Amino acid sequence: MSEDIAKKDAAGRTVFVKTYGCQMNVYDSERMVSLLRPLGYRPVEAADGADLVILNTCHIREKAAEKLYSDLGRLRRTKDASDRAMTVAVAGCVAQAEGAEVAARADIVDIVVGPQAYHRLPELIARAARREGVVLDTDFSVDEKFDALARDRAAEGVSAYVTVQEGCDKFCAFCVVPYTRGAEISRSAEAIIAETRRLAAGGVREVTLLGQNVNAWASAPPPSARPGIWGFRPRADGTWGLGELCRALARIDGLERIRFTTSHPRDMDDGLIDALGEETKLMPYLHLPVQAGSDRILKAMNRGHTAADYLSLIGRIRAARPDIALSGDFIVGFPGETSEDFEDTLALTRAVGYASAFSFKYSRRPGTPAAVMPKQVAEEEKDRRLEALQARIKTQRDAFCDSLVGKDLPVLFERAGRKDGQLIGKTPYLQSVHAYAPASLIGEVARVRIEAVTPNALAGELAGESIEGRPARLKVGDAEETRV
Ligand code: 5AD
Ligand code: SF4
Repeated sequence: MSEDIAKKDAAGRTVFVKTYGCQMNVYDSERMVSLLRPLGYRPVEAADGADLVILNTCHIREKAAEKLYSDLGRLRRTKDASDRAMTVAVAGCVAQAEGAEVAARADIVDIVVGPQAYHRLPELIARAARREGVVLDTDFSVDEKFDALARDRAAEGVSAYVTVQEGCDKFCAFCVVPYTRGAEISRSAEAIIAETRRLAAGGVREVTLLGQNVNAWASAPPPSARPGIWGFRPRADGTWGLGELCRALARIDGLERIRFTTSHPRDMDDGLIDALGEETKLMPYLHLPVQAGSDRILKAMNRGHTAADYLSLIGRIRAARPDIALSGDFIVGFPGETSEDFEDTLALTRAVGYASAFSFKYSRRPGTPAAVMPKQVAEEEKDRRLEALQARIKTQRDAFCDSLVGKDLPVLFERAGRKDGQLIGKTPYLQSVHAYAPASLIGEVARVRIEAVTPNALAGELAGESIEGRPARLKVGDAEETRV
């Protein structure tokens, strides 16, 4: 940032944030914007003319990192064409993993800031304004970050993310996360409950608890929690797991729905499974990545579980919550994966029956154990397997969506749809639904009859009285609003 911009009237500054990758980055980007507002930064939709551009990067697959460099090239042209000074910050996991390289390779970059240092962004911007050269902060002390970022958070919209855990100690052989996000660390129950209360009071009806290993979350109970209340079952050491946290959040007035992502099969404990079975505010949707269906490959991946372990876990979860919809992540073409191994993956998907899933071609990430494993799979073979797996998953997803047609589902309406009079909401299974409904239903859970499946969503119509006893318009299109 040049001196004149630094001195400019605070209210006149603009920031453009581009987010790559996972929901954790989406959350972090929102928090960075909140943090910069008091400094006078207003978020804008394009880099063109912005005073500050933040690229919040992802490092999980090779393509994601490449994308940063091509975006920086484009940004260089935007900056050169602009008559305003522009400060460029690279944040996120590429910043953490390759900060010095980013600074050296792209002279347009003024600030490199790792995910654990966002709360120091104002200070970094001030240093950049003093032209201290590239300002780099990839420090790993995560503990202050959670609350420093959440403190002044305003409730926005109906559904919000709340980070509860960061980092990963699992060290899957293919994955950079343990290196970019560091060791598993949990935010305190007290801080999470306080933030969620504030959000609910501000109109938020659904929270999604975020963590790279969200179900590894553990903390001391908040001081206000008395043993034995609300059916809590603290562990033997007195700490709470994610199940207890969800039970506590379910007691917050106004909050209707709780979700969490991403879970690891090894951390799916009985407390959480019981909570899924007993707490109706916990939505019946679980993203539980398995990555592969062959025990040989699971072992090479260092997953710490077999296919049978995963299937028996799914059996226990389904016994507790029969309507649960499952989602997963898969990697095809991990080093050494044979066509028989891949058949095992297909067999596992058959055994589970996913409502949705994400699948990726294995991407070699320098510094991870799998990058130097022998028998790397040819790209064309990965393409072929990916196509076969995605076709299988699409069939399962379509079957799941079709099974809902004709059913009445509770839908939380979030915002106006593209067509006049239409709202968009979510089913308990995280599917988008559009239905004609009055805008007064935004933020409400209403019963919707599912009528059709479209490529990316479901279509339905209001089916009568809203859930939770609140009035809802019965049918849209009537001459007058019918309230019950
Ligand atoms: N190559 C391909 N996919 C990967 N993932 C993580 N690392 C890699 C990699 N090196 C996938 C996993 C994980 C998801 C977030 O990204 O499936 O669950
Ligand atoms: Fe990566 Fe495995 Fe940790 Fe998930 S559990 S973040 S895939 S190392």
